[in-house]
Amino acid sequence: MKSIASTPHLISPDLPLQANDSVLKLAVLASGNGSNFEAIVQAIADGKLRAEIPILIYNNPGAAVAARAQRWGIPALLMNHRDYQSREAFDFEIAQTLKQYGVDWIVMAGWMRVVTQVLIEAFPNRVINIHPSLLPSFPGIRAIEQALKAGVKIAGCTVHIVTLEVDNGPILMQAAVPVFPDDTPETLHARVQIQEHEILPRAIALVASQAAKS
Ligand code: GAR
Repeated sequence: MKSIASTPHLISPDLPLQANDSVLKLAVLASGNGSNFEAIVQAIADGKLRAEIPILIYNNPGAAVAARAQRWGIPALLMNHRDYQSREAFDFEIAQTLKQYGVDWIVMAGWMRVVTQVLIEAFPNRVINIHPSLLPSFPGIRAIEQALKAGVKIAGCTVHIVTLEVDNGPILMQAAVPVFPDDTPETLHARVQIQEHEILPRAIALVASQAAKS
């Protein structure tokens, strides 16, 4: 018998990955490790997601995501938010850059910046975020720590459309995992990330299919 820890806990149905032929042009924004970026790239390489990533933008010099992009031959551009006067100026530059690359959708895969109206209005309903909690519970920073502190027995992750209110846009997909009594932030995050890597490519495929129909 499978243990509960190894059972996937997808709340959304286990959808086929992509139901149409169009090739999405995705930009990924990432701040750190980049495991979700790589999950998207892997889904593309496996033929599960028909997309291309013309550009990865990262904001922290030395972020591991840049090395992952290099290994896959994906152009990576460092845009350091510390070099800009305001959040809006930073987002304006990102939007301009992504327009030049002909990007259709933006995926925030571990993008640790609050985005402004400037980016959202440049790509209306086309910015996606992954967050390590079952929203609407535990928005904002340190979601895993928040969940442990609250004593929840089920945690998880959410992929949603980005709106002005942080971590509050329409939910596309969620997955749940059990929380064990001896969990630390690291062990729980590792369990959540396994599910993140499952649902993020699926949610992208879902929006791609829906956009193609509309
Ligand atoms: C992921 O767990 C993602 O949900 C979280 O950052 C991690 C990035 O991991 N995002 C947020 O907390 C956004 N509020 P990764 O760099 O290995 O993809």
